[in-house]
Amino acid sequence: MPAAAPLRYLQALPRGTDRPRGTLVLVHAFPLNARMWEPQLAIADHGWRVIAPQLRGVDGDQKPPARSVDEYAGDVIDLMDELGIHEAVVGGLSMGGYVTLAMFRHAPRYFLGMVLADTRPQADTPDGVEGRKRMLQLVREKGASAVANEMLPKVLSDAARRNHPDLTERVRGLVLSNSTESIAGAITAMMTRPDSTSLLSTIHCPTLILVGAEDGVTPPALSQDMQRAIGGATLVILPDAGHLSSMEQPAAFNEALAQFLGHRV
Ligand code: MLT
Repeated sequence: MPAAAPLRYLQALPRGTDRPRGTLVLVHAFPLNARMWEPQLAIADHGWRVIAPQLRGVDGDQKPPARSVDEYAGDVIDLMDELGIHEAVVGGLSMGGYVTLAMFRHAPRYFLGMVLADTRPQADTPDGVEGRKRMLQLVREKGASAVANEMLPKVLSDAARRNHPDLTERVRGLVLSNSTESIAGAITAMMTRPDSTSLLSTIHCPTLILVGAEDGVTPPALSQDMQRAIGGATLVILPDAGHLSSMEQPAAFNEALAQFLGHRV
């Protein structure tokens, strides 16, 4: 039997309405894959088509690894073109947010609205770049499982790791779906990303900012700064959630998303 083609994107079609409201595109975090957005497919119940693209190299995808967030952004825009999506609410979590901002930099006309979850506009600091180089070495020498061991305590809150071993194993499984080359590509893309701080004041579409109250990778103060810089942006701080807030608190995350889509877009 021929091997199944790699999944290129997750999709849920709008349900429970005669008039689809629009399309929500959600870009995944590092070093995970589109399946992290499975709980958010439920937003289809509010009349939205939900698309979660796999970034290149994930889950058997054979494209060469990315070298920049612009390359990821171009892939997502190409997918939207292929699917005939001319405008959408586009968002992402953490690295997915970096890609969202790169998409906005190049192609703002695709944006009906924006969702920035557990992310930041700043480029990496010199210390941050040194940390990325160490992780590049780690993945090349020891593979994806070593990256999973290093990232899990950072991206999940202590309570989630203590009380939800199933979630911890789920996140580990998502990390292990990535090849060494694709993880190295994502690290390279993140450490070379430009600073997007000055872009924020040019965002004029409705924008929702979400962050876990216990996010130590992109702490809530960064989201508060983004809210101040983006005119009219809504900020929701999710209690009892770490960096992967959409996975730790999917019900609260989805409620904030549904409110935003229903009332602001
Ligand atoms: C992510 O969650 O996508 C990464 O932790 C982001 C980063 O390392 O900057």
